[in-house]
Amino acid sequence: MSNLLLKNFNQVYGYEKREDGKSISIFIRDGIIEHIMPFDELIMRVDKAKMRDTEIIKCDGMIALPGYVDSHTHLLFYGTREDELYMRAQGKPYMEILEKGGGIHNTVRAVKAASEEELLQNGLKYLNRALMSGITTIEIKSGYGLDYETEKKMLKVIHQLNEHHPVDIIPTYLVHSVPGDMDRNKYTDLVCKKMIPEFKNYTEWFDIFIEKGVFNIQESERMLKTARDHGYHTGMHTNQMSDIGGIQLAAELGVRHVDHLEVLSEKDAQIIIDNEDLYAVFLPGAEMFVFSENIGQIHQLSDIPERIVISTDFNPGSSAVLSPIIIQTLALLRYRNITPSLLIDSFTVNPAAMLFLDDRGVLKPGKMGDVLCLELDTYRQIPYLGNMQLRKLIIKSGKVIKDLIEFNR
Ligand code: NIG
Ligand code: FE
Repeated sequence: MSNLLLKNFNQVYGYEKREDGKSISIFIRDGIIEHIMPFDELIMRVDKAKMRDTEIIKCDGMIALPGYVDSHTHLLFYGTREDELYMRAQGKPYMEILEKGGGIHNTVRAVKAASEEELLQNGLKYLNRALMSGITTIEIKSGYGLDYETEKKMLKVIHQLNEHHPVDIIPTYLVHSVPGDMDRNKYTDLVCKKMIPEFKNYTEWFDIFIEKGVFNIQESERMLKTARDHGYHTGMHTNQMSDIGGIQLAAELGVRHVDHLEVLSEKDAQIIIDNEDLYAVFLPGAEMFVFSENIGQIHQLSDIPERIVISTDFNPGSSAVLSPIIIQTLALLRYRNITPSLLIDSFTVNPAAMLFLDDRGVLKPGKMGDVLCLELDTYRQIPYLGNMQLRKLIIKSGKVIKDLIEFNR
């Protein structure tokens, strides 16, 4: 059936409780939300023929919110790195593991050795989990290839996933580290002269890891400028472990988003506030998994709630969490000045706006029919009772997701 009627919610996020006590229903036609109103009013507006082609689901006892937009992930990888988690728990720093050839490089070796098909099946496995956690739009970065061939393999597989899976994927070319066997200047050259120009065929987004011991400001500036000149939108991993001036550079180059921000000075917070097109992405999962001493500086940006984004950063090293609800719970428990609506907006409408996806992120007529229904009384309970097994419905483009998606070529 091409239409869907979700009937009688406890609450629909973004809609006030009605004075007459009537509960609200959502009608989705051909994948797009058409009406959000009480059932008796709705039924008068939808003609009989359309109604016959409509699946009706009772949603008593549930709330509705927009499907999550997870704007920062490294969902495509191979192998796992749980050993490193225990090493960090014993006090070994994330950067030390990386500098000794582990960390990101461990995943790079595994991704290189994996065939395209193996990589695809692994991606599919996690993408299914993402959808089951309520993520209906996801950004996925390359960055575990490093060399030309393997980065290209990753970007190709991300495309295949996007073609065959209902979750909408925004691919990003991520320059993550210098390959162990390459001179850093030669690598920067290769990125600027070959990879950035060619990978524009696969993606609109460019990202880089700016950090002491990874890429410095001069190298980052060169690559970001090149990417910008080739028409990419840009983002950066910056101010995670240290502050080497990434935010100032972001402002100068018109970067769209700065992510991690665990080390955030008042001056840099002000730069973000003053630059109206710049978004701040916080990643509570990475903060916890890296045992960071600097937990998210979100409270410094309370004046710009519409430009605050929270994401899972799902990856095998620094954040093995693929559940927005767990991430929201961590944010609430560890950050200051978090409001119930900021927890939702920072995972839906804000990242959608950041990624220039104006057709989603809110429940409104005309927007995409991406809806997450949870058995709760109010959205305020999401980081409170939301972590147990709840009755849950996931709707992607007006379709109820019933099973894990199989990949058929
Ligand atoms: O967002 N900080 C750098 N990159 C990723 C982690 C990658 C990894 O450890 O595999 C991040 O945290
Ligand atoms: Fe990341």
